[in-house]
Amino acid sequence: MRLVVRSLRHAYPGAGSPVLDGVDVDLPAGTAAAVVGPSGSGKTTFMALLGGLLPVQDGHVAAVDQDGREHRVADVASWVLQTVSLLPARTALDNVLVGAWATTADMVVARQRAEAALADVGLAARAKDPARVLSGGESQRVAIARAMASQRPVILADEPTGQLDAATSAIVLDGMLAARGERTVVMVTHDAEVAARCDLVLELRDGRLRERS
Ligand SMILES: Nc1ncnc2c1ncn2[C@@H]1O[C@H](COP(=O)(O)OP(=O)(O)O)[C@@H](O)[C@H]1O
Ligand SMILES: [Mg+2]
Repeated sequence: MRLVVRSLRHAYPGAGSPVLDGVDVDLPAGTAAAVVGPSGSGKTTFMALLGGLLPVQDGHVAAVDQDGREHRVADVASWVLQTVSLLPARTALDNVLVGAWATTADMVVARQRAEAALADVGLAARAKDPARVLSGGESQRVAIARAMASQRPVILADEPTGQLDAATSAIVLDGMLAARGERTVVMVTHDAEVAARCDLVLELRDGRLRERS
């Protein structure tokens, strides 16, 4: 899926100047883009508008398939959020199954996908542990595995490696970027090494998004 953003503007009620003031993006299918920018520059706002968590006030956002048909990004994307939201009493595997079941009703297929996704983030050995005993970093890896297991064509992630140390961050990133090609990935990051591994870096500043070369 290609992602298209045109003349996107967003102002929070009561705030002075708009947070986003004419953002245009054309992200080819299968690419991984990093969104960077100072704190408060509107990265989370941009992601929320892209993924349909906030209604678009002004402008246009769409996912475009191979045949040129437009889809709501929310219908084709999985999220990895900044704060982890796992079912604490359920096992790591069950949490990942939630993602797999979003796109298949076949129990065997769902289980295979979930197990593969957990292995991709280095947590195969923790499959049967309840989510509540996992560390913050492990929980974030489960959340990423859940998004991967859905096999939706777009992955949106807001600082997915924010809570992780460098080694764990690399494992998680390998998992997410391995899917690039089949999937379009957009991730907010503060980590220069993470950004450097993406295909392109989009910098948000003064309400505009510019491709950094
Ligand atoms: N719900 C909200 N209501 C009012 N202002 C908000 C809201 N969410 C974010 N903002 C403001 O919008 C700006 C951009 O925020 P955000 O998108 O979270 O930036 P970033 O993710 O780059 O740190 C900030 O000035 C923030 O205070
Ligand atoms: Mg943010």
